[in-house]
Amino acid sequence: MTEGKPVVKRIGVLTGGGDCPGLNAVIRAVTKAAINLHGIEVFGIRDAFRGFVEGDGGLLRYGDVSGILTQGGTILGTSNKHNPFRYPAVRRGKKDFRDASGDVLANARRWRLDACVLIGGDGTMNIGTRLAKLGLPVVGVPKTIDNDLAGTDVTFGYDTAVACVTDAIDRIHSTAMSHHRVMVIETMGRYAGWIALKAGVAGGGDVILIPEIPYDLAKVVERVVARSRMGRRFSIVVAAEGARPKRGKMTVERVITDSHDPVRLGGVAAKLARDIEAASGLETRHIVLGHLQRGGTPTAYDRALATRFGHHAVELAAAGRFGRMVCLRGDRVASIPIARAVARLKLVPRSHPLIKTAIAVGTSFGV
Ligand code: F6P
Repeated sequence: MTEGKPVVKRIGVLTGGGDCPGLNAVIRAVTKAAINLHGIEVFGIRDAFRGFVEGDGGLLRYGDVSGILTQGGTILGTSNKHNPFRYPAVRRGKKDFRDASGDVLANARRWRLDACVLIGGDGTMNIGTRLAKLGLPVVGVPKTIDNDLAGTDVTFGYDTAVACVTDAIDRIHSTAMSHHRVMVIETMGRYAGWIALKAGVAGGGDVILIPEIPYDLAKVVERVVARSRMGRRFSIVVAAEGARPKRGKMTVERVITDSHDPVRLGGVAAKLARDIEAASGLETRHIVLGHLQRGGTPTAYDRALATRFGHHAVELAAAGRFGRMVCLRGDRVASIPIARAVARLKLVPRSHPLIKTAIAVGTSFGV
């Protein structure tokens, strides 16, 4: 053992935020690599920070993670409502919040955790940064289907979501063509258009609308009407949930007050379908793909990336390199300070090559 390097005997692991294909692949890789390479025990914490605050967890043995590589979701459970710094509480019969970060630190001591692997998106990483400042030895593993975490080229889950949306576009083509309809497909992605952009190109969308390029409804209508006049009597519009008109706002479906990221976008496809039909006279329908995009078995790409991330997280923990988040740089798995990863969102740049390619093959971005 090198001098100064901490002795890591037990690593805690949790999954936070929305579920995402590949989470189980990371849990499996962390557990197997820790046991195989370093003889380190792995302790699973249930339902993200709820389990950390309330002391709910247990040892993960080799057999517990066998057979989970291909499963969607997370065997540990997750939550996006249990921020330890603003923990749900009831005071005098009323819903309230308290700082429960002390409980996290106490449970980490009680469970004898020498390191904690936090698998999550920006919400989880923000909490991780704050806990690290209080002395918790954390290592981050980025996940999100939205692919919007700065600091990593790609997050696992994104490829699976893109495959799901592409498959949906392929299927929707049948109805669009048979009924000569305009079909508007709403994807997830929050404030970033990565899912809509890539799946829109892969599925041959005629119009792709993303939050980074506010659309002009007249241009969208112009495109679908022009296609109809040319004898292409259907159109596919792929809209990210964050798509917004020029000088307009994103469509908010609900606000979940006790979530640390309270705004839920949704409803833009329904609005677009109404507006396009009214302006073009063409029958227009919409579909919201919603949580289908987060479910099911991860693609081969996501399984491999998640496994590499889990392995690397164990190496960081074993080497005592805390406060860092695993990331992908080109083909190489590396790491960066967690704080840097969450400093800003990674949005689609207007100069992105996929946008240029889409325009080259005749796709409209509604501008
Ligand atoms: O961040 C992942 C994501 O699926 C977003 O694309 C979407 O806006 C949001 O989570 C939905 O969150 P929830 O499952 O809490 O409704």
